[in-house]
Amino acid sequence: MAIILGIESSCDESAAALIGSDRTVLAHRLAGQEDAHKPYGGVVPEIAARAHVQVLTPLIDAALMDAGLGLDDVDAIAATAGPGLIGGVMVGLVTAMAAGKPLIAVNHLEGHALSPRLADAALEFPYMLLLVSGGHCQILRVDGVGQYRRLATTIDDAAGEAFDKTAKILGLGYPGGPRVEALAKTGNSKAVPLPRPLLGSAEPHFSFAGLKSAVLRAAQSGAHRPEDIAAAFQQAVVDCVVDRLEKALAASDGTGGKPKTLVVAGGVAANGAIRSALEALAARHDMGFVAPPLWLCTDNAAMIGWAGAERFALGLTDPLDMPARPRWPLDPEAEAARGAGVKA
Ligand code: KG4
Ligand code: ZN
Repeated sequence: MAIILGIESSCDESAAALIGSDRTVLAHRLAGQEDAHKPYGGVVPEIAARAHVQVLTPLIDAALMDAGLGLDDVDAIAATAGPGLIGGVMVGLVTAMAAGKPLIAVNHLEGHALSPRLADAALEFPYMLLLVSGGHCQILRVDGVGQYRRLATTIDDAAGEAFDKTAKILGLGYPGGPRVEALAKTGNSKAVPLPRPLLGSAEPHFSFAGLKSAVLRAAQSGAHRPEDIAAAFQQAVVDCVVDRLEKALAASDGTGGKPKTLVVAGGVAANGAIRSALEALAARHDMGFVAPPLWLCTDNAAMIGWAGAERFALGLTDPLDMPARPRWPLDPEAEAARGAGVKA
């Protein structure tokens, strides 16, 4: 069995994990930076990078101690090399390089995309993936390690961004996703009419900027209870996600066959309403459904270690002059979505 040390530092979570190639999570440690960024109302890149410098090495030591291992037992180190905030990515990558072990430069999105295979040994390629996080909202066909075809992306905001902005509008704080979900449980989604951007459109792309503006107007009108706005917003996201996936599945019928499994990954995959709707969608299409456990959905180092283990097994290590990359698409061939970059 190979043992991989995973390091994550692309945003506001510092994390270290030790993963066995047989899918054992030997240790995983996480240090959030919420308090450091709170006074500024969002993640400040310089503060994030400095925090990673302070905590990464102690976190790695703690993970090794949890697993009862020394650095000598580690076969390779997998570090997020992008996409993300460049300062933090550099800190993680340099920390990995300094250890003098084989290096695996992991795309953070590939970490999310392969995380369901860490949780479920039976999940085989190809699968249809909804990748929904704070920075990304994509539908991908996953044909193998490093083999991704992007079928859809967002033309403005990511789904997690929409949750975070809705939370801000409702005064719930950051990170917004879990707080909006909790509030939505007590609300009536039918009490507030909200739009479903791009619903029914031919290409399976996403758009959430118009929904966010509608949430702002509903909140400012003073006519609605916050829990009803939260519930209506979440239902609108669910409806959009289901409709867009229906389109992607219909389109994939003609191109190499429909994958047998529907998979969701990324921070927003922690959302219970989205999970249930996807499970029902998969059942309607006679597909299996896989969603990683909640702790593996939001940013962590276990998914980076696992992506590293998958790559290491294929002999895919990287040179020490590997650059940190602020942008790094999973499917470099994918064209920009029409209307992309236009924010409402
Ligand atoms: O994957 P992730 O941890 O970081 C990125 O790579 O972006 O995703 C974070 C995003 C945030 O926008 C957060 O609000 C959202 O995931 N999120 C949720 C839930 N938990 C986290 N969104 C909806 N419902 C949740 N339960
Ligand atoms: Zn992420």
